[in-house]
Amino acid sequence: MILVTGATGGLGHQTIESLLNTTPAAEIAGLVRDVSKATDLVEKGVDVRQADYLDYPALVQAFQGIDKVLLVSAVAFTDRVHQHRNVIDAAKEAGVKHLFYTSIQRSTNFVMTEVTESDLATEAYLKASGLVYTILKNGYYFEGLGYMIGSEVPEAEISIPAGDGKIAFVKRTELAAATATLLTSEGHENQEYTMSGSEAYSFDDIAREFSALAGRPITYKNSELAPYIAQKVAAGFPEVVANFLAQWCAATKHGMLAGTDNTVERLLGRKPTSLREYLKMTYFPGV
Ligand SMILES: NC(=O)c1ccc[n+]([C@@H]2O[C@H](COP(=O)([O-])OP(=O)(O)OC[C@H]3O[C@@H](n4cnc5c(N)ncnc54)[C@H](OP(=O)(O)O)[C@@H]3O)[C@@H](O)[C@H]2O)c1
Repeated sequence: MILVTGATGGLGHQTIESLLNTTPAAEIAGLVRDVSKATDLVEKGVDVRQADYLDYPALVQAFQGIDKVLLVSAVAFTDRVHQHRNVIDAAKEAGVKHLFYTSIQRSTNFVMTEVTESDLATEAYLKASGLVYTILKNGYYFEGLGYMIGSEVPEAEISIPAGDGKIAFVKRTELAAATATLLTSEGHENQEYTMSGSEAYSFDDIAREFSALAGRPITYKNSELAPYIAQKVAAGFPEVVANFLAQWCAATKHGMLAGTDNTVERLLGRKPTSLREYLKMTYFPGV
């Protein structure tokens, strides 16, 4: 039986949806904090189990009878390492054989304090745990682009501190589908995969695609961190979130998210969504 944590979140829920295409619901479990948010999964016959990453006894209970766990990483600005250790230890105690962990892509040694530090610590802990592991170094979601540049088509300019850095974006549903294929196939014992897109795009590329779709010139200007943070705060983001978004831009500038990889494409059996397709469906629906 496969258990997916974060089953009420984006990636976890979409992974279960993909699993349901190939696997009987009776062989799928979802871990949630709040069962009332998972009624759709219950209706589909998924075995919904309740535990918080901070509640060790509940985790051990929830992992009974489970062979494989997909640990969807905890959110930033929480004690991620403590939560992930709890999940890993509880899985081991409950007799789980194989744990998959959703880490973040690291094409360079750039360290994002709220993300890569805790991912590195979790990966090391998992490798030393004795569990069979698979580490998924997930690319940056296409869905995260809107947080970086806004959800409206830029008027004339995209101004963010990403330098000439590129991002090998991956659409979250496609990442989920690829992850579901890994969970239901063999040969991934003690492996690490970079789950990024097949193509990487700079913000010049993004501006060019916006221009083509909008039919007017839209340019990219590399900005400094401080004005970007101020602009995000003015747009209504809490300062801590504005700083976090600036960190993603800095990570982009330093190439952390740039590496392309064909694993997702191979697992999907087709080309993943391109930048042009994503912008069209998100920023120009119905056009
Ligand atoms: N690659 C990227 O671009 C990217 C972007 C953002 C985040 N991430 C990372 O990838 C993870 C999955 O992404 P996502 O889009 O699915 O995030 P999401 O929609 O925020 O989902 C996170 C899930 O984790 C659950 N969770 C959080 N803390 C928990 C705890 N203490 N105990 C049990 N469950 C807990 C949440 O439960 P509730 O529904 O109860 O809140 C939710 O189901 C994120 O958590 C983050 O670590 C990656």
